[in-house]
Amino acid sequence: MIGGAGYIGAHVVRLLQEAGEGVVVVDDLSTSSAERVGSAPLVVLDVAADDAVVRLEDVMRHHGVDSVIHFAARKQVGESMARPLWYYRQNVGGMANVLDAMEAVGVQKMIFSSSAAVYGMPPVEIVREDTVKEPINPYGRTKLIGEWMLEDCGRAWGLKWVALRYFNVAGAGWPDLGDSAVLNLIPMVLDRLQRGEPPRVFGDDYPTPDGTCIRDYVHVLDLAQAHIAALRALDGELAHNVYNVGTGHGASVAEVVDAIGRVSGLDVVPEVEPRRPGDPPQLVASADRIGEDLGFRSETGLGEIVASAWEAWQAGPRRIG
Ligand SMILES: NC(=O)c1ccc[n+]([C@@H]2O[C@H](COP(=O)([O-])OP(=O)(O)OC[C@H]3O[C@@H](n4cnc5c(N)ncnc54)[C@H](O)[C@@H]3O)[C@@H](O)[C@H]2O)c1
Repeated sequence: MIGGAGYIGAHVVRLLQEAGEGVVVVDDLSTSSAERVGSAPLVVLDVAADDAVVRLEDVMRHHGVDSVIHFAARKQVGESMARPLWYYRQNVGGMANVLDAMEAVGVQKMIFSSSAAVYGMPPVEIVREDTVKEPINPYGRTKLIGEWMLEDCGRAWGLKWVALRYFNVAGAGWPDLGDSAVLNLIPMVLDRLQRGEPPRVFGDDYPTPDGTCIRDYVHVLDLAQAHIAALRALDGELAHNVYNVGTGHGASVAEVVDAIGRVSGLDVVPEVEPRRPGDPPQLVASADRIGEDLGFRSETGLGEIVASAWEAWQAGPRRIG
């Protein structure tokens, strides 16, 4: 598992361990920490480094790896616009190294963390896997290129693969595995509250019922289960290689902020700021394909997602109140 110490990866590591599966984690710990992987063996290495291919081959041989789940990536949109080449080196170069090592060792299965960012500003309200893909920043482009690399390796040397396009991942499956990065809406709101500042809402004049942006929030533990379902599917004939992972339902920014107020018991009055460039009014997944092919459904509601995120935040070093 590459990037298995991160927010999402650590959930999949724990689920696999609970199921009695052997897992080895490779991670450079640049945005995570070793204790998140529990008792799983951890190899600390940067997959984009010059010596990564040889080191990855060693890890794969030594641990008898038969499948790779590839989470490792830089994921900050703004940073990707400021440092595009670094993003290409890290996300695309790093993935090329992982695939190179897999081919050399004969590891034939990969699950890849893709993103709704591949769609850019989709022209539809419900995004299907075949909706036009026009990413609007280097981060999203690296994810689309990652999918193309998988397709090409599938053709060239028989790699079996699934790319999961995550929508808005939130919550925590266990209180010690919360999202420690302040990049997504719920951690951003909690971070502001913790500083004693009002949460910020970017734009309340979108063409949505309450004027704030609508997104599809998927509980991180549901998302982790989707990886297990995809891993099982790789053992048989795949109907498709690419799947959205969302709920098929949207919640507005205002609804999320309200839910945080309800769960925390705090008086949460947001401050409205201008729209941010590149934020589509609505981004909601069609979850039909993954439901039909992999039998996967994410049904955890917004209240439960927010409650688990709140519990994890309170269990961390930055409690509120
Ligand atoms: N969190 C989301 O909302 C979201 C949405 C869509 C897609 N994704 C994708 O899911 C994946 C996991 O995201 P996350 O939220 O868990 O992020 P995260 O930053 O918590 O996890 C990424 C992990 O990869 C490691 N890593 C990064 N670059 C590395 C490198 N070059 N070599 C070795 N390890 C490296 C980090 O140390 C970290 O442990 C990423 O590929 C991300 O782009 C996340």
